[in-house]
Amino acid sequence: MSRVVLAGAEEDLALRVKQATDGDVHVLPPGRLPGDPSRLFEQLPDGELPDVLLVGPLAPPDQVLTLAARLDVQSPGITVVLIAEASPQMWQAAMRSGIRDLLSPSADVLSIREAVDRAGQAAAGRRRVLRPVSETDRYTGRVITIASPKGGVGKTTVSTNLAIGLTAAAPQSTVLVDLDVQFGDVGSALGLTPEYTLPDVVRGPASEDTMVLKTFLTQHPSGLYAVCGAESPAAGDTVTGDDVGRLLASLAREFRYVVVDTAPGLSEQTLAALDRASDVIMLTSMDVPGVRGLRKELDVLRELCMIPAGRHVVMNFADAKGGLSVRDVELAIGTGVDVVLPRSTSVPTSTNQGVPLLANGRKRDPMVKELRRLVSRFAATPLMRPGRYRAKHRASS
Ligand SMILES: Nc1ncnc2c1ncn2[C@@H]1O[C@H](COP(=O)(O)OP(=O)(O)OP(=O)(O)O)[C@@H](O)[C@H]1O
Ligand SMILES: [Mg+2]
Repeated sequence: MSRVVLAGAEEDLALRVKQATDGDVHVLPPGRLPGDPSRLFEQLPDGELPDVLLVGPLAPPDQVLTLAARLDVQSPGITVVLIAEASPQMWQAAMRSGIRDLLSPSADVLSIREAVDRAGQAAAGRRRVLRPVSETDRYTGRVITIASPKGGVGKTTVSTNLAIGLTAAAPQSTVLVDLDVQFGDVGSALGLTPEYTLPDVVRGPASEDTMVLKTFLTQHPSGLYAVCGAESPAAGDTVTGDDVGRLLASLAREFRYVVVDTAPGLSEQTLAALDRASDVIMLTSMDVPGVRGLRKELDVLRELCMIPAGRHVVMNFADAKGGLSVRDVELAIGTGVDVVLPRSTSVPTSTNQGVPLLANGRKRDPMVKELRRLVSRFAATPLMRPGRYRAKHRASS
């Protein structure tokens, strides 16, 4: 049975949906539909993603279309069905936003049941394609690669804070990997003095046994594990794309979240990290050169078919005086911006002290608020539900 969530429905429709799903539906309270899926799913009791999201006629169409378009990119394993009077224009707008089916608000229980079944099967099919499961593939963790075309735009700031934030959600199950092989500074940003660094971790005993690998990681007091960058650029250069692929695959078997910081541009190691990623955070500064660079990088990755299922666009150094609006940026890059991080004086201080902002807890700082919003995209909306989803669907298939 698919996991179903219903939003924007009046009582009578909710009753028919309950009958059609044998009561196996979570009905969201009436109210505004958030454009950000993580906000929507935060309302679910166990934080688990649905297979099918049914949206009723009480939800304003523009909000439904925005939400569906974002889900289509962030969580393509969820099928959205719109329950509304269908006009040809509505069909067209719905399809463009990734909505899979339209159902009349007066549909009877049998039609609703059939639509939910179809939607559940479509969701299961897409999840299988997104992450093929084989006997040898125990790959379950979410690999989040942070990339940018240019240097100094905040990759290390974002990756260290994201990793600290995810550690709170998944204690002892988050690892941060510094793949800025020449000049990595994750160790410094976290105030760590590593005993072993990236080259030690990708070869020798650590590369042969995951139990041993764990003993080569550096532990942060928060419970986060880290693979810090090499001691010298020359040592870092010895790490190949294949080494990176193997390391990330091993870590993803052991950790729920693998966060990967990278060097600017598309090095061999960064491409290997993108190849393994379930998610990419494309980061850039909010200025004309930064935005142009991001557009080029997105174009190249699209041509190489290397954009992972979860794609998140983050602008850093947002500043009202800079003259660029989020809308300008979205038009220039041809896609939505997901999180906007403000320029903030608290960031350089935290970098210099080696204490990420999310570790020292000044909750009202606007940068902290936006960083938390970024964390919640991953903590509240897993792209896949490892284990339970597969077990349930394999058993029924
Ligand atoms: N939102 C912000 N407001 C103010 N300063 C920031 C912000 N984000 C990052 N910084 C500062 O900018 C500098 C560069 O940030 P960071 O090291 O995270 O960038 P990076 O993309 O990892 O750089 P590199 O490409 O060199 O690795 C740091 O000193 C950091 O403190
Ligand atoms: Mg960096």
